[in-house]
Amino acid sequence: MANGYRPEIIQRAFVDFIGSRLHPFWSLTTPKLRLIARYTLSDNLIALRFETNRAFKQQTSEMMGGWQGGQYLDLRVCIDGVYHQRSYSIVGLAHQPLWWRDDTTESHTADQRHTVTIAIKPQGLVSNYLTKQMPLASVVDTSLPLGHFTLAQAKANLDHREPDNQKLNPLLFVAGGSGITPMLGLITQALNNGHHVTLLHYSRTVLSKLQHQWQQLSDIYPDFIYHLIHTEEPTTYLAGTRYLSVEGLLSLNLPLADTQIFACGSQALLAGLYKAAAEITLPIDKQLRDNIIVENFGNALANVDNGSNQTFDKTVPVEEHTVYLRSRQRQFNSDTTILAAAENADVRLAHGCRQGICQLCRCNKVSGVVKNVQTGKVSGDGYESIQTCINIAMTDVVLDV
Ligand code: FES
Repeated sequence: MANGYRPEIIQRAFVDFIGSRLHPFWSLTTPKLRLIARYTLSDNLIALRFETNRAFKQQTSEMMGGWQGGQYLDLRVCIDGVYHQRSYSIVGLAHQPLWWRDDTTESHTADQRHTVTIAIKPQGLVSNYLTKQMPLASVVDTSLPLGHFTLAQAKANLDHREPDNQKLNPLLFVAGGSGITPMLGLITQALNNGHHVTLLHYSRTVLSKLQHQWQQLSDIYPDFIYHLIHTEEPTTYLAGTRYLSVEGLLSLNLPLADTQIFACGSQALLAGLYKAAAEITLPIDKQLRDNIIVENFGNALANVDNGSNQTFDKTVPVEEHTVYLRSRQRQFNSDTTILAAAENADVRLAHGCRQGICQLCRCNKVSGVVKNVQTGKVSGDGYESIQTCINIAMTDVVLDV
């Protein structure tokens, strides 16, 4: 019966409604978290530990088999009667106790399997509320674990290699400031799986609690090497450079062609990584930028061609227009991002990340209107600088290329 009375649905919703009125943590269907502890990891990084409700446990373990290192949760938090949603990295792994446990604030009897921990930089309305004001035992709605900043993506990225070169690839983690948080679980998981792991963490402050734990990990796993670069302390610089550089990357002595790079941090850090990667020459047919995976908390360019021959999302109709490259005297038709359209027409344009991060695709538009698919902003029709990887042509366009 397609449209008839379906008692099982009504019962479930009804039971859920009554149950949640009796106790806000209780639900058959909605994943919820209850705050049980806070840890200070540094001046600007706080970890929050939550007990998970039955719906979270059931859906996470039954549907997903737990969560992967590098995933995040979308929390829905009510502040002064207004709901806000934010993404926060999960720390640690579903099956593994926290390796950075703070013995002074934690009950040893807590069952690790029924908790989840996130790390937050107290900055902005919701993060400040969660880290400073929300009372212990408060309940918040949450998504299930989300995100593809996981080891599975590294494997998928390198699965195109020759069959005799399928051994575990080395992993390089590049973090800036609180960008370290999604890597806390990911690094432990990678080491458990037998990867050679190198960590570069750029920070303006010393994260002493994390530093202690990195040392513990390196004592356990000889294949773990970490470099903590305190940007105000020259003695910690890699290859004598304050920020990420070609010299710094080369000084790691990694087989870069086969090294998967996970990166999370400020736009400046990520742009620096892509710029350095563009200057490093790898064996034929390889580009280091293709080895980079960036954490974007689900804000990636779902609509943007990712270089794997996917087409632009046609759910938003885009008319075809002509893009003319003034210096090269070439032209091509475009109904997707300008970069992707150029490649479809066998025209090579400079690029790096294809995600609007690295700025390597930036060029000057002489005339025509483009639309930024990240922000939805429509340009004027005059001379201005644009990124070809995240802009589509809304009229015929002339580029100074
Ligand atoms: S390719 Fe990186 S910003 Fe466009």
